Amino acid sequence: MTVLSDVALPQIDVLGSKMAYREAGDPEAPVALFLHGNPTSSYLWRNILPYVASAAYCVAPDLIGFGQSGKPDIEYRFFDHVRYLEAFLDQAGITSAYVIAHDWGSGLAFHLAARRPGFMRGLAFMEFIRPMPTWADFHPAQVETFQKFRTPGVGEKMILDENLFVEAVLPAATARKLTEEEMSVYRAPFPTPESRRPVWRFPNELPIAGEPADVYSTIERAHQALAHSSYPKLIFAGNPGALISPAFAESFARQLKNCRLVHLSSGLHYVQEDHPDVIGANIKEWLVEEAVRSSPKQKLTL
Ligand code: BEZ
Repeated sequence: MTVLSDVALPQIDVLGSKMAYREAGDPEAPVALFLHGNPTSSYLWRNILPYVASAAYCVAPDLIGFGQSGKPDIEYRFFDHVRYLEAFLDQAGITSAYVIAHDWGSGLAFHLAARRPGFMRGLAFMEFIRPMPTWADFHPAQVETFQKFRTPGVGEKMILDENLFVEAVLPAATARKLTEEEMSVYRAPFPTPESRRPVWRFPNELPIAGEPADVYSTIERAHQALAHSSYPKLIFAGNPGALISPAFAESFARQLKNCRLVHLSSGLHYVQEDHPDVIGANIKEWLVEEAVRSSPKQKLTL
């Protein structure tokens, strides 16, 4: 059996715990902040960072409870992640950034942009979180599973005891077969039922049919701010996608200002595992173009 681990990441103190992060590129360059979702970590961005590092200083934190970050005794609600991410940014001295976000990372990014409009230089996102008025808006193949994840007693058994989010959802929502080495890195943060509580919480926070009410209304407001915003946006859509279909991505992108859409040839939820080269190259090109637009005299890294 091959079980290789990831590199040990640097960590910073955040709210009495530690948050790990991956970095690449020149610290003097504009920041590109990479935000992952469930149940991944900054490892998700490993094959994308090398593309972007020649145009920006890349910082990819592991959300609290994920990857190599600490697991403080908190509820791991969306609002906990908001607090820890905010403290991480303060500690790291990051006051503005291009943000590249996936899944719950996008929920955090939309909320961050709504709260701190000056922070966002541009936002690239994929398989993103949005308010879903009914279960018919959710990925049809996953409705039954996610309804069970949200059923008290049943969800805990499936995710905490059986580790199904890592062992079943992650491979099923990636088009290629993840290698044993890659799976071992994704498994590493979650060796025990209790260590999987952050993973269990996220499907219970998805804003579906008005629930949970506080997350639903917060994500609704964040999407209203997104709809009114003028900072540059870049959306990637997998085919058929999981949370976001190509057709939904088309109509969503059309309603936003200053938004470019890139269709990926295939992909479900974890599109970074299937298309790191296309995603990386497009983010780099977009960053370079936006940097020229915002300060035409700035020296370019091409
Ligand atoms: C999610 O984490 O929201 C998700 C994961 C896989 C498929 C669909 C949704």
